[in-house]
Amino acid sequence: MKYDFDKETNRKDTQSTKWGVIQDPGDPSKWLATDDYFGDDRIVPMWVADMDFPSPKPVVDALVKRAQHGIYGYSLRTDSYDRAVVDWMQERHDWKIEPKWIVSTPGVVPAVNFLVRSFVKPGEKVLIQRPVYYPFFSAIENNGCEIVSSSLILKNGRYEMDYKDFEKKAADPATKLYILCSPHNPVGRVWTLEELQRIGEICLKHHVLILSDEIHADLIFSGHRFIPMATINQAVADHTIVCTAPSKTFNLAGLHTSNIIISNQKARQRFVKTLNRCNMAGWANPFGVVACETAYRKGKSWLEQVIAYIEGNLDFLADYIKRYLPEIKVIMPEGTYLVWLDCRGLGMDQWQLRDLMLNKAKVFLDDGYIFGPEGIGFERINIACPRSILADALERIKHAVDEIND
Ligand SMILES: Cc1ncc(COP(=O)(O)O)c(C=O)c1O
Repeated sequence: MKYDFDKETNRKDTQSTKWGVIQDPGDPSKWLATDDYFGDDRIVPMWVADMDFPSPKPVVDALVKRAQHGIYGYSLRTDSYDRAVVDWMQERHDWKIEPKWIVSTPGVVPAVNFLVRSFVKPGEKVLIQRPVYYPFFSAIENNGCEIVSSSLILKNGRYEMDYKDFEKKAADPATKLYILCSPHNPVGRVWTLEELQRIGEICLKHHVLILSDEIHADLIFSGHRFIPMATINQAVADHTIVCTAPSKTFNLAGLHTSNIIISNQKARQRFVKTLNRCNMAGWANPFGVVACETAYRKGKSWLEQVIAYIEGNLDFLADYIKRYLPEIKVIMPEGTYLVWLDCRGLGMDQWQLRDLMLNKAKVFLDDGYIFGPEGIGFERINIACPRSILADALERIKHAVDEIND
C-alpha cells in the first residue's frame, strides 16, 4: 500500500500533547492549552518527538478490532508478541535475542528511571553525553545520583565523542552507569562500529554498566547503518541493557509500550525486582501489545516509505535554510526525525532565541538549552510532519528573522 504523508491530519480533540499544550511564553515552567491555536492563528508545534502521520494501516485495523472487543482489562504479552520482537531485531538489525530477555515497561523513560534506581546508589555517578535527551537528567537526579557529562564535540558540522574525556570520567570509581543515546537525540548521529567499540572497551575496563537507549534505531537514513550496542562482542553484550520500543518507529508513543532487552540474567532479575516493587509497572497495555506485534509483523513497508518522506523533508529543510536563513546551520542527522539547528549565527542568547521562535515566529521548537548547557544557541525541530506544515514553520521563522534584520 502507498501512503500519502503529504495529507494533513487534524489532531484537534485527540488529547495530543504536541498540539494541545504549549509552554507559557512568559514562564517556561507553566503550560497553556492551545485551543485557540488550531485555526489560522495556530502556533506550529515542532517540539515533542511524535509524528503527525497516522500509523501503518494494519496497526490501525488491529487496534480497531481490539477496541471493538469492549473489554480492556489487565493484559499480558504473549509468545507471539515476543516472537515478533525477536524476529524484528533479527531481521532489521541482525541482532539475535531470546524471548526471555525481554522485559516490558510502560515506556523507555520509565525504564531509564527504573534502571538508574536498580543499578546506581544515591550519591553515585551516571555518565551521559550532552547535549542529550533531557529526561536522562531527571532520571539520574530524581534517584539521588549525580550527572557526569562527557560532552560531545562539534567538529566540521558533525558531533563526535571525546574518548579521552570519556575515559577520565568512566575511570572515576563513583561512575557506575553510562547512558548511551544511540542513535543520538538531538544531534542525530548514528554511531559507527568503531565509536561503539571504543566506548564499549572503556566501559568494560572501568566496570561501568551500559544502558543503551536505542528507541530511534529503526529510523536511519540512507548511507548509514545502525549497530545495536549488544552486537559489538559478547563481553559488551553481557554488560549492556538495551531500551527498545516501536513507539518512535511507528508513531505509537501514547500506547506506552517498550521492550527492554537484558541478556545478562542477574541484571535482568535485578531490574525485574525493581519493577515488581512498583506493583505492576511491568504489565502490558492491551492496545500497546496489539500495536507493537502488528507493527513489527506488518509495518515494514510503511516504515520504508516514512523514512523516505522524512529524508525528503530533511532535504527541503536544509535547502530552505541554506537559501533563506543563512545565519542558521543544519547539523545533518544520520537518523531520527529530529534536526539540530545551530542558531548561534543569529547572535542571540537563549531567551532571545526562544522569544524569536515561540512569540515572533509562532513555532514551538525544543530550545537547545534544555538538552544541557552545550545546547545553548541551538534549537531542535521535529520534521515528522507533512511538508506543508514544515514549509509553514520555516516561512514563519524566515519572516521573524527578516523583521529583526530590517
Ligand atoms: C532518546 C529517547 N529516549 C526515550 C524517549 C521517550 O521514550 P518513551 O516515550 O518510551 O518513554 C525519547 C522520545 O523522544 C527519546 O528521544
